[in-house]
Amino acid sequence: MKFDIKNTDCIPEMHRLAKEGVQFDLSVFSPPFASLYSYSEDEADMGNSKDSDDEFLLHYEFFANALFPIIKPGRNVCVHLQQVTRTKGDYGHMGLFDIRGHVNRLMEKAGFILYGEVAIPKNPQAQSIRLKAHQLQFSQWEKDSTVSRPALADWLQIYKVPGKNETPVRPLDNGLDRDLWIDWADMVWKPKDGQLCLPSSIWFDIRETHLLNNTASVHSVIGKGHKPSNTKFQADERHLCPLQIDLIERCVLLWSNPGETVFSPFGGIGSEAVGALMHRRNAYITELNPNYAYEAERNCQGIVNKIEHEERVLTLFDL
Ligand SMILES: C[S@@+](CC[C@H](N)C(=O)[O-])C[C@H]1O[C@@H](n2cnc3c(N)ncnc32)[C@H](O)[C@@H]1O
Repeated sequence: MKFDIKNTDCIPEMHRLAKEGVQFDLSVFSPPFASLYSYSEDEADMGNSKDSDDEFLLHYEFFANALFPIIKPGRNVCVHLQQVTRTKGDYGHMGLFDIRGHVNRLMEKAGFILYGEVAIPKNPQAQSIRLKAHQLQFSQWEKDSTVSRPALADWLQIYKVPGKNETPVRPLDNGLDRDLWIDWADMVWKPKDGQLCLPSSIWFDIRETHLLNNTASVHSVIGKGHKPSNTKFQADERHLCPLQIDLIERCVLLWSNPGETVFSPFGGIGSEAVGALMHRRNAYITELNPNYAYEAERNCQGIVNKIEHEERVLTLFDL
């Protein structure tokens, strides 16, 4: 169970890894989105293309091309994203930028197969406050509901590198069971006014606040002595939104074996790495912002210490 955190731009690092012939077993990450958050002043920060969707898409194309050769054939890449909102101030109209569609096309262009997708519902009230989205607010809805729209779900897009998977992942050997697969593969048909609406794969049970900057979550995942991560290092409103641990664990358990390595190019405070280490996988992450990379290191070390301590206690009981 090893972790490697590189405080660097993921793109040159992925080129270097490809030259060395390194290939990972699974990749799980949330890309930085254009115009939603930005994490640093760094030019290499993919979130810093606020004024131009084309610039973001160009960056993403370089990114997808660099990712493709470092994932093993037949193995999966899980990309977590949410459609990006357009504001009247920036675009002259309110609406959505179809980042999910664009990312699908760019991943396909790089050689990946679009393999599956899952929706993760979000709480509309929490989203209304967090994004200050007036399309979700009661006041707008009461004044003129044509401006209102439903909350934005999170999506997990699953891509695959073509070719034969040389090492099967056998969930039954890895401690999962058929009942779990019934839940996780469920095609939900949601009844509405006695009628059925379109089928969609929805994971209803991902805890929205089970995050590495949440005290209760950090205490349950890493331990009571571990401090939750700071995710806001700038003086202004910029902050990082960590990925839910439940979601990461599910990807890790479904699509990798113990001892394999999970790669996150946008490592943040290390949520994907912690989710991999929790289940005895190795983690390799790149993260541009040194504050986040420091937090990732601290969180990874925390979970490794916890697991090693538990193993020592078990060995003592065996004696
Ligand atoms: C959506 S956040 C990821 C958060 C992460 N999933 C977590 O839970 O901590 C995106 C991250 O990508 C980083 N980033 C942006 N451009 C990058 C680049 N070119 N190379 C590496 N990291 C980058 C940002 O600093 C930010 O931490």
